[in-house]
Amino acid sequence: MDRALIDSPLVDPDDTPAARDQVFLDSAGSSLPPRQVVTAMTAHLHREAEIGGYRAAQERADDLDAGYDLIGRLLGCAPDEVAFTDSATRSWLTAFDSVPLTRGDRVLVTEVEYGANAIALLRRAEETGASVEPVPSDPSGAISLDALDEMLDERVKLVSLVHVPTNGGLVNPVREVADAAHRVGALVLLDACQSLGQLPIDMRALDVDILSATGRKWLRGPRGTGVLAVTSEAAKKMHPRLVDLLGGVWETADSYRLRSDARVFELWEYGVAQRLGLLAAARYALDLGLDRIADEIGGRAATLRAGLAAMPHVQVRDLGEQQCGIVSFTVDSVASEDVRDRLRDRGVVVTSSGASSTMLDMTRRGLTSVVRASPHYFVRPEQLATFLTAVSEIG
Ligand SMILES: Cc1ncc(COP(=O)(O)O)c(C=O)c1O
Repeated sequence: MDRALIDSPLVDPDDTPAARDQVFLDSAGSSLPPRQVVTAMTAHLHREAEIGGYRAAQERADDLDAGYDLIGRLLGCAPDEVAFTDSATRSWLTAFDSVPLTRGDRVLVTEVEYGANAIALLRRAEETGASVEPVPSDPSGAISLDALDEMLDERVKLVSLVHVPTNGGLVNPVREVADAAHRVGALVLLDACQSLGQLPIDMRALDVDILSATGRKWLRGPRGTGVLAVTSEAAKKMHPRLVDLLGGVWETADSYRLRSDARVFELWEYGVAQRLGLLAAARYALDLGLDRIADEIGGRAATLRAGLAAMPHVQVRDLGEQQCGIVSFTVDSVASEDVRDRLRDRGVVVTSSGASSTMLDMTRRGLTSVVRASPHYFVRPEQLATFLTAVSEIG
């Protein structure tokens, strides 16, 4: 199943030495970055210590500038549609805050909406009088396209679509949602936090208007990094609110001009070392190829799901017909946090995901938390077996 990538010269086990000594199944949380990412960051930090942060950044100006093209290639959008931020949530909030909403407007969300987005949605609804309405799921657990069709009207200004939820392997349909939303003129904001780096993403082919994602998860970049992509068409309908002297130019004492590209959503100050690490991670993923990465991850997740499903005391909780690298499950009579801790004692790293991260979905299913195992392509087959044995011995 996974020989191809492991034997490939592109994936040198020395790139991720820590993956040897532990069964690392938390790329949906914060993955292990390859050494190329670590080197890009540490080298720059040393350089900053030698010559100061401004000169060090200047030395890397071409690489930093080329980063927009690189991320554009990763996302399937133009370089001037890319902005860098410090997290997926920062990207999402920045974009959402810039979508005009007034009383009577409607925002549709999926039942797997992420907690941070949901809080922002509720606050904005309070402030503006717009409504936030979950679109029911279909029997598989994906967004119901029939229900979406029925709910859409010209008062819907935004559809917030989670590509892959934080609490399971579901992959929501994107193009179908975008087509429906666009029929009534609504913008589509895709939360690609759990899909960037594990699934191929092409904003043009998916026809989404806005995309938010993080660096630290499946892309294997550093913490404190995020990307926001806004198509030039969507940008015309948005009103950026947190603009500093990168996004705007102070022209006279009482006038300013906004940038015309997506960098209007960035702030001037950022961690240059982190940005260089993120770009190294993006290059690493693009060199491997996202189709191939998705196959490798999908194969590992399917192995885990099949192994867990065969255990009488374990319930696999993944939704959807199309599934990806997040494997969620519960162990009868054992709290997810205890499962996580007991696996940790055996050198297996997983996390638990609680109801407050995906309240609508978890409440609907009567779950308080699930264990989340998320294998990247660097996890070896015998490590999957170690994980399954360890789970079989819990409970
Ligand atoms: C689906 C989803 N959206 C958004 C986020 C938020 O990402 P960040 O912590 O980078 O802001 C997460 C984090 O787990 C997530 O899983």
